Amino acid sequence: MKFFVDTADVDAIRELNDLGMVDGVTTNPSLILKSGRDILEVTKEICDIVSGPVSAEVVALTADEMIAEGRKLAKIAPNIAVKVPLTWDGLKTCKVLSGEGHMVNVTLCFSANQALLAAKAGATFISPFIGRMDDINLDGLDLIADIRTIYDNYGFETQILAASIRTANHVAQCALIGADVMTAPPSVIKGLAGHVLTDKGLDQFMKDWAKTGQKIL
Ligand code: E4P
Repeated sequence: MKFFVDTADVDAIRELNDLGMVDGVTTNPSLILKSGRDILEVTKEICDIVSGPVSAEVVALTADEMIAEGRKLAKIAPNIAVKVPLTWDGLKTCKVLSGEGHMVNVTLCFSANQALLAAKAGATFISPFIGRMDDINLDGLDLIADIRTIYDNYGFETQILAASIRTANHVAQCALIGADVMTAPPSVIKGLAGHVLTDKGLDQFMKDWAKTGQKIL
């Protein structure tokens, strides 16, 4: 499963990328706001760091305007994936931009039928939001499994990009289900390294090592 990092924080992206943990990046208007940066500048900087797909989201609501914004965003770098919302206008935009050879990430997906439409419109990625479904007591992981089954049933090549990932369990379950990609904030990706038994075991090793009175360096 590919790891995308869900942030516009350039320092955090660089740190994870240096460790080989970043196959791509996703941003959205809220993350651009959080970064305090200009969308075109920060997206260019991210594309210079990461060679994989970097999602940059349109903010228009009509297809004509979304297409114009998408074309402008796609000019930032060859690895831009234009992110469009899962609305009828977003699907029209997806069809046009994917037809022009651009990568398109269809976002804000909350149902299997929406995912089916995105695949038929030629989406490169479909982004079902797991955490936001859990927030309203729906099962986001069930949605990932349903989309996996549907895409496999018909051989759709659209990649399932599990988004709104909040926990380590989300990551492991998405990998087990067979999501192609997951995108998570840097804190969640770093948190995957943590385990209470790792901490406990290391603590015991350090105590026993101190008792040996030895040094390696
Ligand atoms: C994905 O592309 C979105 O930017 C993101 O995963 C949304 O996550 P959130 O629900 O935690 O805001």
